[in-house]
Amino acid sequence: MAAAVGCFALAGLALPLDVGAEYGDIIMNREAEKAEMPPVVFPHWFHRIRFKCKVCHDDIFVMKAGANEVTMIKIIKGEFCGKCHNGRIAWAPLYCDRCHSGKSQFTIAPSQGGGALP
Ligand code: HEC
Ligand code: HEC
Ligand code: HEC
Repeated sequence: MAAAVGCFALAGLALPLDVGAEYGDIIMNREAEKAEMPPVVFPHWFHRIRFKCKVCHDDIFVMKAGANEVTMIKIIKGEFCGKCHNGRIAWAPLYCDRCHSGKSQFTIAPSQGGGALP
């Protein structure tokens, strides 16, 4: 599980080990679990090899895990993930579980907009 530990250290998260994320993935869970959706697992590496950093940072996303106030409405309106996940550049945000693929019971550091769930 060394790779998984590294992954969470990289994302700066205090997480249990078995969360279904891979190295370099970023868990986005400011709102998701509060709204009873599984956390979003963002495959950072998958995107990094396809786009220059500048495409996303900092025009679309501030370069800090948990620092972006992403909501589903904003995505559907074409902000954040929705800049590309709009059915043109990449598939539309209709397939919930492709993004909301995290297992439940994540916790996220308060500094990243989260907090342990009850
Ligand atoms: C497709 C968009 C996209 C691309 C391209 C991208 N990133 Fe990111 N990056 C993100 C998102 C989304 C986050 C998480 C933001 C959040 O959690 O609010 C992030 C977070 C980060 C973070 C913060 C990680 C942390 O633990 O706080 C760093 C550093 C970073 N990116 C660097 C890079 C670098 C370097 C590149 C180019 C090699 C790159 N990114 C390319 C979307 C992207
Ligand atoms: C392209 C990726 C993506 C897809 C597809 C997607 N979501 Fe999300 N969703 C996100 C991200 C990112 C967030 C913000 C996560 C966070 O920080 O909590 C989010 C947040 C949410 C939230 C939290 C509350 C809010 O208002 O933002 C709900 C509820 C939600 N999504 C529902 C859905 C449903 C239902 C679907 C399928 C119809 C869906 N999502 C598809 C990426 C996605
Ligand atoms: C700069 C454009 C861009 C942005 C911004 C972006 N994506 Fe993507 N994403 C893509 C492309 C292109 C693909 C590949 C689509 C395909 O294979 O048809 C993709 C694929 C994915 C995949 C599938 C990865 C796989 O293994 O097949 C997930 C999950 C995903 N994105 C989540 C997100 C989430 C969550 C966000 C916002 C936090 C986001 N993306 C923002 C362009 C983007």
